[in-house]
Amino acid sequence: MPILELRDVRKHFGGLPAVDGVTLDVDRGLIYAIIGPNGAGKSTLLKTISGMHDATSGQVTVDGVDITAMSAHAIRQQGIGKVLQTPRPLASLSVRENAALGAMFGTPGGRRGEREALVAADEALELVGLSDRAHWPVGQLNLHQQRILELARALAGQPKLLLLDEVMAGLNPGELEDSMAIVRRVRDSADVTVVWVEHVMRAVTALADHVAVLNFGQLLVHGTPDVVMRDDRVVEAYLGQGAAVGGGGAGA
Ligand SMILES: Nc1ncnc2c1ncn2[C@@H]1O[C@H](COP(=O)(O)OP(=O)(O)OP(=O)(O)O)[C@@H](O)[C@H]1O
Ligand SMILES: [Mg+2]
Repeated sequence: MPILELRDVRKHFGGLPAVDGVTLDVDRGLIYAIIGPNGAGKSTLLKTISGMHDATSGQVTVDGVDITAMSAHAIRQQGIGKVLQTPRPLASLSVRENAALGAMFGTPGGRRGEREALVAADEALELVGLSDRAHWPVGQLNLHQQRILELARALAGQPKLLLLDEVMAGLNPGELEDSMAIVRRVRDSADVTVVWVEHVMRAVTALADHVAVLNFGQLLVHGTPDVVMRDDRVVEAYLGQGAAVGGGGAGA
């Protein structure tokens, strides 16, 4: 059974479709990338899965449980974590305390105590390589480190499904390598399925097991990265906004 099943999912804003009837299955244990031109509906789709938006119609199922009508909070407790594009750490807390919030409020089965949450936070910081900065005030982290902290915070909630939105945008080459290694390590050691919206094609090609392409809110094609990146329809969709899909960062 796929861990995530989308059936004809739609999200309209004022009558305009941002997500326009998406049906797809994500198999367990994969890094499943979702790409597509700016405005294609990628972020809206992630927000609809995570309950930040209510679907206009259609069905979202995780591990056989219909989560379509659940609140964002209830969806987190089903083991679905997310990292949004803009990190929003709590400035008054340390790196470790920020990571612990994910364990206190995001854990399947309910809220955990502070001590337990800090243990989960330490494990997550270790996994993403931020242990040596655990006691830093969060304001001393750069953008790349803040994104990694967001990832640690999501992981501390022990998700089975992790939704990532453009976590590699705007990184320098060294930071990009670092992020790619972290995502790979997370997939290999945290027993988590990753659904990953990304514009940095070099990273998608290197990491994704499967790629789905959204265009105008619809699923255009999906398959292995090598097949999808060479598909004429995909190249054409990106050419519409003046960037080639093979170029290493269309639109980012
Ligand atoms: N809260 C909102 N209210 C109204 N329209 C929205 C809202 N969020 C997104 N949209 C519209 O829905 C469409 C899809 O936007 P979305 O942000 O999902 O695209 P995206 O694929 O993530 O793009 P990008 O690659 O630029 O991040 C766009 O036309 C956008 O303007
Ligand atoms: Mg987006």
